[in-house]
Amino acid sequence: MNFSVRGWQTWLTVGALALGLGGVLRAEDKPAGLLATVSSGGAADVVLAPNVQLFVPAGESATPFLPAGPITAVWSGFLTSELRAEYTFHAEFVGDLKLTLGEATALAGKSTDGQRLSGSAVRLNKGANVLKVEYRGPAQGDAFLRLYWSNKEVPVTPVPLALFTHEASAEGEKSRLVHSGRDTFAEFRCGKCHTVDGGKMPELGADAPVFAGLGGRRNYDWLAKWILNPQALRPGSPMPAVFTGAEAGEKAEAVAAYLASLKGEAKFTPTTGDAAAGRALYEKFNCVACHVAPDATEAAAPGKISQKGVKAKFTPGALAAFLRQPEEHFQWIRMPNFRLSADEAGHLAAYLESKADAPTDRPAPTEAAILDKGKKLVQTSGCLNCHTLDLPNQFATKKLSDLMAANWTAGCMADEPKPGAAPHPALTTEQRNALRAFAATDRSSLGRSTAADFLERQSQALNCRQCHGVMEGVPKYDLLIGKLRPEWAAKFIAGKDPVKPRPWAEYRMPGFPAYADSLATGLATSGGLPPKSVVDPVPENAKELSEAGRKLVSANGGLSCTQCHSVGTFGATAVFEAPGINLAYAVNRLQPAYFLRWLRNPQSVDPETKMPAYFDAETGASPLSDILGGDGPKTLQAVWEYLRLGDQMPKPE
Ligand code: HEC
Ligand code: HEC
Ligand code: HEC
Ligand code: HEC
Ligand code: HEC
Repeated sequence: MNFSVRGWQTWLTVGALALGLGGVLRAEDKPAGLLATVSSGGAADVVLAPNVQLFVPAGESATPFLPAGPITAVWSGFLTSELRAEYTFHAEFVGDLKLTLGEATALAGKSTDGQRLSGSAVRLNKGANVLKVEYRGPAQGDAFLRLYWSNKEVPVTPVPLALFTHEASAEGEKSRLVHSGRDTFAEFRCGKCHTVDGGKMPELGADAPVFAGLGGRRNYDWLAKWILNPQALRPGSPMPAVFTGAEAGEKAEAVAAYLASLKGEAKFTPTTGDAAAGRALYEKFNCVACHVAPDATEAAAPGKISQKGVKAKFTPGALAAFLRQPEEHFQWIRMPNFRLSADEAGHLAAYLESKADAPTDRPAPTEAAILDKGKKLVQTSGCLNCHTLDLPNQFATKKLSDLMAANWTAGCMADEPKPGAAPHPALTTEQRNALRAFAATDRSSLGRSTAADFLERQSQALNCRQCHGVMEGVPKYDLLIGKLRPEWAAKFIAGKDPVKPRPWAEYRMPGFPAYADSLATGLATSGGLPPKSVVDPVPENAKELSEAGRKLVSANGGLSCTQCHSVGTFGATAVFEAPGINLAYAVNRLQPAYFLRWLRNPQSVDPETKMPAYFDAETGASPLSDILGGDGPKTLQAVWEYLRLGDQMPKPE
């Protein structure tokens, strides 16, 4: 289950489905996703759920706002059908389940082993059908539920997310505000100064750029402007304006002078690159997912990051070094690592510099008195609560538990900041309201964390959908849920896996090392799958199956998968058709259920894919009756057993 909070807006648009018939319940008027009320230990939480899938490991919480323990969950909303049609629902779960559509019970039962349970066919009306799913998890052990549907044309698949909508409710809105307040507290690093006892939310440990050697990487004048007012240079930055009031400018300059004096060891070679080549790379890697294009105005891309200031900010050569390893001095930076070569970084730097504003050239003051003042301010102003430097921190303030909810209109939370009284984080009115709603809770949610909640928040913050759904040939975001084994996905998202599944593609998935583990786990649990993938047992007749599998994958008398797919070092034979992923990786990469679903009918997973459907739409029978008697499930397993051999695999024919 995803607990979309920031996602609210996105889902609204994703789910808009025009039906346009008089008298039909119109889905496009309703917000996307379902509302789920989840309860455990006597507490309840309302969350926006894009699907009816969840996985709650034993001993963990279902949402950060609930204690661990046996859960119940009720999803409610609408399921849109484009036509009047008959569907059968199926579920894999442990516990008790009841699914109703309007008045009709579509599926009900108990399960202790997670085997798939199927209901009998029900009729969906054209338009929005009232849907309710009631689930009670087991008293002990993992709670999970994965809902599917099927009909004559569609084999058992998860219901497409765009078909779920719900009625906005006051209860849902109140909950959304509280969740969003918790997110904002973490994003703005409030807990670095107002310390949190027993915090478990991963972002509470997020760092800020290290100060050591900063003067070698950043220009003095830029530092002074940034420290005085980060918002002026980057709207939305989580760094607060620390100095407010009459002497703020002077203080910021003293601190900047001190930081500029920390030169460090690094020596940069000034950029030599070709701006035109840089521009081509900029487009190829889709940097505009997160940035204002160098030729566009900031107004044209609200919320995205400008690069007009790169000449003012970076010392000569430091920009290319930053592009090659953005996380070098700041692990939780949101700028990902594109594994750029020195040449690529040089071209990109040259392109960005050719479009940047001219820097102001103010030399840093070097008087001992100013540097000394700056150093003391760094120690006493709270900078070292977020940033690191080998220098004693002399700043402390109230702990979170001492900030009474009634006072969340004072200090950092004042609508109109009082100069000099407290730092000034640049919060919007909406963010302040959300923080106040959060302050009124017992705040124990900071001591809990779920991977699905992390994924929902960070997939928004890291703009996953600005590439997945926009870049051609790159899987759409929704398709990533429940697709990959988390172990493989974690390495891939961190940018550590040397394997490039689509070697023909020019694009590159950039690495997000600090976020990768939790994102990968979230992509599994949001699809109702466990945080560690299950290795299915090797069957007794594996040898026989893998031999049949080899035939099936091969050209002569087989299904000719090798036309489009490489298998290990055996290259594809006609890739111009529609190049597919090297099949030798499939078993390590893919969740077994996804593999079966995909091969059974690729279009039911991704309607746009060019991979042909081999198996009979209705019966699932294999087209090759001479191999394994044409039995669909056995044929699928044979391919899997062959691919499982990995390095040891005999080449296809
Ligand atoms: C750099 C450290 C720092 C950061 C970061 C910070 N604060 Fe503060 N905050 C302070 C200081 C200093 C005060 C003034 C304390 C006092 O008056 O004793 C204060 C005061 C407050 C107060 C008023 C407390 C009272 O009892 O009067 C609230 C509420 C508050 N901060 C909330 C937040 C929130 C929410 C965030 C994040 C958006 C945040 N703070 C971030 C340092 C910080
Ligand atoms: C997933 C979002 C994302 C993508 C994709 C991305 N960036 Fe960034 N980039 C950021 C963020 C966030 C920052 C601000 C980092 C910070 O200072 O905390 C940033 C900062 C930068 C900066 C420094 C800007 C400044 O003034 O501080 C440059 C230059 C830059 N990115 C270039 C690129 C290039 C070139 C690409 C494409 C190859 C790219 N970025 C792709 C998120 C992204
Ligand atoms: C609440 C945490 C917090 C506090 C307090 C804070 N900063 Fe920051 N600072 C950040 C974060 C986070 C960034 C990264 C900016 C971004 O992502 O927008 C940053 C960025 C910076 C940068 C830019 C570094 C770079 O390489 O791009 C400088 C310089 C800086 N801070 C100086 C200071 C100074 C000086 C103080 C104290 C007066 C201070 N900061 C207080 C969180 C903080
Ligand atoms: C700048 C564009 C960009 C952004 C931002 C981005 N991705 Fe990707 N992602 C790609 C590309 C391109 C690929 C295909 C890479 C390949 O096949 O070599 C990819 C592939 C993946 C894959 C592997 C899918 C598969 O079927 O092989 C996963 C998982 C993934 N991305 C997750 C994420 C997540 C989670 C986020 C957000 C935190 C994200 N991506 C943000 C461009 C991006
Ligand atoms: C006409 C070309 C073509 C043929 C023939 C073909 N495929 Fe595919 N296959 C594709 C394409 C295109 C994709 C989607 C690749 C992507 O996501 O980038 C794909 C995806 C897959 C995937 C999912 C991989 C992933 O990581 O998303 C599997 C598994 C797969 N194919 C197996 C097979 C098998 C087994 C056969 C033979 C029975 C076969 N394919 C035949 C084109 C083909």
